[in-house]
Amino acid sequence: QRNFKVVVAGASGGIGQPLALLIKQNPLVTRLALYDIAPVTPGVAVDLSHMDTPAAVTGHKGPEELSAAIKDADVVVIPAGVPRKPGMTRDDLFNTNASIVRDMAASIAKNAPKAIVAIITNPVNSMVPIASEVLKKAGVYDPNRVLGVTTLDVVRAATFIGEINGVDPRTVQIPVIGGHSGVTIIPLLSQSQPAVKLTDQGKIEALTKRIQEAGTEVVKAKAGGGSATLSMAHAGARLTGSVLRGLNGESNVIECAYVKSSLTEATYFANPLVLGKNGVEKNLGYGKLNAYEQGLLKAAIPELLKNIKTGEDFAKK
Ligand code: APR
Repeated sequence: QRNFKVVVAGASGGIGQPLALLIKQNPLVTRLALYDIAPVTPGVAVDLSHMDTPAAVTGHKGPEELSAAIKDADVVVIPAGVPRKPGMTRDDLFNTNASIVRDMAASIAKNAPKAIVAIITNPVNSMVPIASEVLKKAGVYDPNRVLGVTTLDVVRAATFIGEINGVDPRTVQIPVIGGHSGVTIIPLLSQSQPAVKLTDQGKIEALTKRIQEAGTEVVKAKAGGGSATLSMAHAGARLTGSVLRGLNGESNVIECAYVKSSLTEATYFANPLVLGKNGVEKNLGYGKLNAYEQGLLKAAIPELLKNIKTGEDFAKK
């Protein structure tokens, strides 16, 4: 096909702008629609439109232009929302961001009911259930088309393992399962390929903690200036690219993402998936966990259940 429309909703923000830049570079994209409430949005679109890549770029500012942005989209990536400040958890963002995601999902139901939706807005663990419930109410829900973006956790894990092993991080394959906040982020270091060059269990646990808290490392370093934006944009563009490759008929496209799930008690769960022409083609599960990882999973489930319920309760209101 090689003829896809991608929407970035929240395109003028810290994540949105570099994300749009990276997606504009993807030759599978022929139309790139940028939506945001910020006044600069049409200008961001004009700026990117001068890049010599195939995608035609349009800018859409404010709620009255949301429908036009979303219309007939193949993929809608959502980084719209408020980011964390030091001392805030991703859950502190809930109320503002929940309304934003709800409104985006309602517009997708109306204007692009077949679109693949990739949600970056935090807390992802709760935002995916909200979007799912809104789409369900509208009668257009397909669980294979709604993804929570957890790619940054995979990117970080691969980066840190690359440093430890002294290898190019792009050659590291590491599943990160569960959710996208704190203890719900479960890197399966025992399944890393190549194997992580750490023998000491204490060091494995410290690396696990670093991956779980890497977002906070950025929030602290930015000292009030926001949370991860550039690495998040890279991760979001990678997932978007993989979704497009799947839509385009490529086989064996595998990414971790947070989706509707029956693997555990948690009704949404992240783990490796095969992406295809209709979004998630196959759930690959999470294989064998060692005792430490089983403990991490056990700790993650109650938190996931709570986050999912928070999202579903919001959607019911
Ligand atoms: N509709 C569209 N865009 C919106 C809306 C809305 N209702 N509300 C806010 N935005 C836009 C803002 O105008 C801004 O351009 O979302 C963008 C958010 O950008 P930043 O404030 O720079 O935040 P960013 O760092 O990009 O993070 C956004 O992603 O990872 C998550 O936790 C993060 O939830 C946060 C989101």
